[in-house]
Amino acid sequence: DWTPANIVEDAVTGIRELVGDKRVLCGLSGGIDSAVAAALLHKAIGDQLVCVFVDHGLLREGEAEQVEQDFVAATDVRLVVKNVADVFLRELDGVTDPETKRKIIGREFIRAFEEATRELNADEPIEFLAQGTLYPDVVESGGGEGAANIKSHHNVGGLPDDLQFKLVEPLRTLFKDEVRAVGTELGLPEAMVWRQPFPGPGLAIRIIGAVTEQRLAILRRADAIAREELEVAGLYRDIWQFPVVLLADVRSVGVQGDGRTYGHPVVLRPVTSEDAMTADWGRLPYDLLERISTRITNEVREVNRVVLDVTSKPPGTIEWE
Ligand code: XMP
Repeated sequence: DWTPANIVEDAVTGIRELVGDKRVLCGLSGGIDSAVAAALLHKAIGDQLVCVFVDHGLLREGEAEQVEQDFVAATDVRLVVKNVADVFLRELDGVTDPETKRKIIGREFIRAFEEATRELNADEPIEFLAQGTLYPDVVESGGGEGAANIKSHHNVGGLPDDLQFKLVEPLRTLFKDEVRAVGTELGLPEAMVWRQPFPGPGLAIRIIGAVTEQRLAILRRADAIAREELEVAGLYRDIWQFPVVLLADVRSVGVQGDGRTYGHPVVLRPVTSEDAMTADWGRLPYDLLERISTRITNEVREVNRVVLDVTSKPPGTIEWE
C-alpha cells in the first residue's frame, strides 16, 4: 500500500545505499520536481547535499524568493545562488527570434551552472548529480541510463568531461501526483507543490519582441495579477498552464483616465491539457476574465488592452514563442 510516507521512506533508503558518504549536487529550477528531489536527498544525506539555483532573472514574481527563502526554510538545504540576471539581459539584448532566445538562455544557463559546480567541486569533490526525472520521462526516453545531462528542460546537452557525475534520480519510479504528495509530506511550500508547468526559458519567450528589464517588470506584474485572480477564483488546479504574453512590439490606442494612451496588449492564454502535447483553451468565467482585465489595465500603466487567446493546440502551441 503506497502512502506518501512509504514512498519517502523507500526513497531515503535507496538514496543512502546508492550515495553512501559521497557528495551530491542538485540544481533547483523553481519547479516541483527538482524541489522534491532535493528535499528527499536532504532527508537522506543531510549536508552531503548541496543545491545550486541559477537565478537568470526570467522567473515570475516571487519565484526566486520562493526557492531562496521558503524552500530553504522548509527543508534547511544548503543552497548556493548564482545571480546572473545581468548576464542574461546583456546576452539577450535586441534578440527577437524565439529559437535564438532559447539557444542563448540554454548556453548561459549551462555556463552559470558549470561555474558554480566547478567552484563547489574544487572545494570538496562531488560524486553525484541529482536529477528530477519522473517515471513518464524514463518511459519516454526508452528507460536508458545516460551520462549526466541536465534535463532537456533547458534544451541543452551534457556537461564537459571534467564535470561528469554519476546520477541519482530519486523520483524515477514516481508519477507527478505522487511527487506532489511527497512534496506535501515533506512540508514544501504549497505554491511550489502545485506550481503549474513553466518553461525553462521563462518569461523571455512570453515577451514577443526583445527582452528588456522594463518589459520583464511589466509582464511580471500582469502575470502575477492573472495568477492571483485565478487562485482566488479557486480554479488554479483546473487550468494546466496560464501563460500571460506581452506583445511588446505592438501598440494600440486607448483611453485611460484623462487622456489617450498608446500602450501594449497582453494576451491571456489559459489552457487545459493532460500532457501539453495537445491542449484546449480554458473556458474561464467571464467575471474572472473581467477582474483580471480591469486589474491589469488599472495597475500596469503600460498595458491598455487585455485579449484572450481562444486557440486550441493544435493548431496553436501553448506558448506564443
Ligand atoms: P508548446 O508551446 O510547444 O509547449 O505547446 C508545450 C509545453 O512545453 C513548454 N515549453 C518549454 N519548456 N523549454 C521548456 O522547458 C522550452 O523551451 C519550452 N517551450 C515550451 C510549455 O510551457 C508547455 O508546457
